[in-house]
Amino acid sequence: RPDFKIAPSILSADFARLGEEVDNVLASGADIVHFDVMDNHYVPNLTIGPMVCEALRKYGITAPIDVHLMVKPVDRIIGDFIEAGATYITFHPEASEHIDRSLQLIRDGGCRSGLVFNPATPLSFLDHVMDKVDMILLMSVNPGFGGQSFLPGTLDKLREARRRIEASGRDIRLEIDGGVKIDNIREIARAGADTFVAGSAVFKAASETDPHRYDSVIQAF
Ligand code: DX5
Ligand code: ZN
Repeated sequence: RPDFKIAPSILSADFARLGEEVDNVLASGADIVHFDVMDNHYVPNLTIGPMVCEALRKYGITAPIDVHLMVKPVDRIIGDFIEAGATYITFHPEASEHIDRSLQLIRDGGCRSGLVFNPATPLSFLDHVMDKVDMILLMSVNPGFGGQSFLPGTLDKLREARRRIEASGRDIRLEIDGGVKIDNIREIARAGADTFVAGSAVFKAASETDPHRYDSVIQAF
């Protein structure tokens, strides 16, 4: 069985008490904190930046923070996230003028690097940089918002990404982001994903008796 990891997206958390929300999902069994950065330019929404990442580190979060950049340009913000304590930094190849350079910047800063593929972005962007990625993130919705439905065409793309990873012989995480729920996660895992982002499925599932626990959904995953 692959080493599966659950990465709740804090996009659906209560931003007014973010530290507690992150503590709670980690205490409920989550492995990674998925951190969605949107700039109202590359995607039509605006969220959080390096200062919030740094604040989570200062608050005491030690789990890996998986920074998903939905920003353009990319390079300027990479250094700030390295300083802010990011673990993974991934970006969309269309948003970078120099994909190889952006990946190298992330690695040079001691973080793990990755590319993110929108539903219509071809995996051929990996062709010349496979040795520079530690993570491949496939979007199963168009980026910008939580709570959308999983696009089923992503399953074939996952299988193709898994084949590419196997052919490379490298240790690369295959992450899926968008519309992941209890009732589709098995099928998604069978298609090759090993790292599962879930936003609304996790944060809308706080139990009525204890609004600070998300065990029911995280354990069901
Ligand atoms: C969308 C973000 C996702 C989002 C997923 O642009 O990248 O991480 O939070 O939310 P759900 O799980 O609700 O589809
Ligand atoms: Zn994301």
